[in-house]
Amino acid sequence: MAGLADHLRRRIAREGPLTVARYMEEALSHPRYGYYRHRDPLGAAGDFITAPEISQMFGELIGLWCAVVWGALGSPAPVNLVELGPGRGTLMADALRAARRTPQFLAAVAVHLVETSPLLRARQRDALPAAGLEGTPAWHEGFDGVPEGPLLLIANEFFDALPVRQFQRSREGWRERLVDVGPEGDGFRFVLSPPLAGVPLAADALPPGVDGAPEGSVIEVCPAAIALARAIGERVARRGGAALIVDYGHTESAFGETLQAVKGHAFHPVLSDPGEADLTAHVDFAALARAAGGAGARTFGPVDQGEFLERLGLGARAEGLLAKATPEQAAEIRAARRRLAGRKHMGALFKALAITGAGMAPPPGFE
Ligand SMILES: C[S@@+](CC[C@H](N)C(=O)[O-])C[C@H]1O[C@@H](n2cnc3c(N)ncnc32)[C@H](O)[C@@H]1O
Repeated sequence: MAGLADHLRRRIAREGPLTVARYMEEALSHPRYGYYRHRDPLGAAGDFITAPEISQMFGELIGLWCAVVWGALGSPAPVNLVELGPGRGTLMADALRAARRTPQFLAAVAVHLVETSPLLRARQRDALPAAGLEGTPAWHEGFDGVPEGPLLLIANEFFDALPVRQFQRSREGWRERLVDVGPEGDGFRFVLSPPLAGVPLAADALPPGVDGAPEGSVIEVCPAAIALARAIGERVARRGGAALIVDYGHTESAFGETLQAVKGHAFHPVLSDPGEADLTAHVDFAALARAAGGAGARTFGPVDQGEFLERLGLGARAEGLLAKATPEQAAEIRAARRRLAGRKHMGALFKALAITGAGMAPPPGFE
C-alpha cells in the first residue's frame, strides 16, 4: 500500500533505519494502513487459512478442553474465557457450542476477546450470538486489559504475528538487522547496525551458545511474545487458570531466521508491499515456556498439533460427524482431519503449549 510505504520512508528519513520488529509492527498494526486493520485475511479469498476455518472440529475440541480444565481448576465462577486474536470468531463460536454439554461451565464464563482490528471485531460480534452466547463479549486492545480473575486463555496463530527482532554475528560482534530505504529511494532493504556490545536482550530470551556463535549466525527473538507469556504465567500462577497456545514453531530455541510474508496463499518477499501481505515468524515455544515458568507457572508440551487433537478425540468427533454426512460432506470431513492432524500437513509443524497454575496436573492432551 503506497500510504504505508510513504509513511515508512518518512519515518526512516526522520529516525534512521527501523528494527525488523518496528517494521513488522507498522506493516501489521499501523492504525490506518496495517495489514490487519483493513481486511479479513482469512479463507479462500484471503491470504491464508487457519485451523478453525478448516473444520468446526478444531474449536469444538478446544471448547471441551476448556470445560474439562475448568472442572480441574475447581469450577471457579466467574472465570474469564479469553481468546487472543480471534479472527472471525469461529474458534470461540465452535468452542462455546461444544461447551453447551457443560451448562455450569457456560454459566460461569465471561468472554473476553483481545483484538485490535475493528473489521475483525465486527466479524466476531456477528459470530458469537449465532453460537448462543448470552451477553456481549468484552473486547480489549491487549491482554493487560483483561480483568483480574481465574483465567482460561486460547491463542491460535496469534503469537506468530508478534514482532521479532533479528541479530547477525559479524567479525566485529553482533549487529542488529534493520530495514532501510533502498538505493533507488523506493523499495526497502535490510542493512546491519554498527557492532553492538552484545545482544541487548535478557539472557533467557536467547538461544544457548550466543557467546560462541560463529560469524554469519542469525538469531530471531520476539520480545513481545516473551513479555506476554510472562504476563499470562504470572496471572495463572496468582489467580489460577490455564492457557492453550497453538501455533507453528520450534520446540527448542535455535539460531536461524523464519520471518516470512504470505499473500494470496503464496510466499511473498518480506519487504515488498508492506501492509498488503501477512508477516509471521515461527514461535519459539521454549522461550515462551521459560518466560511463563520464570513467572511461577507450570508449562506442558509443546505437543504436535496432530497428536494433541487425536488425544482430545479428533477421530471420534470425525466419526460422529461422518455418521450424519452426505458423501461430499464425508470427503470434506476426512480431508479436514488429514489437514489438521496429518504429519505432512499442519499436524507436525503446529504445536500446542499449555501454561497453568503451579499445582495443576497435566491438562487433556498433555498427559
Ligand atoms: C492469523 S489471525 C488468527 C485468527 C484466529 N485465531 C484463527 O485461528 O482463525 C491473527 C489474529 O490476531 C489479531 N492480531 C494480530 N496482531 C494483534 C495484536 N498485536 N493485538 C491484538 N490482536 C492482534 C488479528 O487481527 C487476527 O484476529
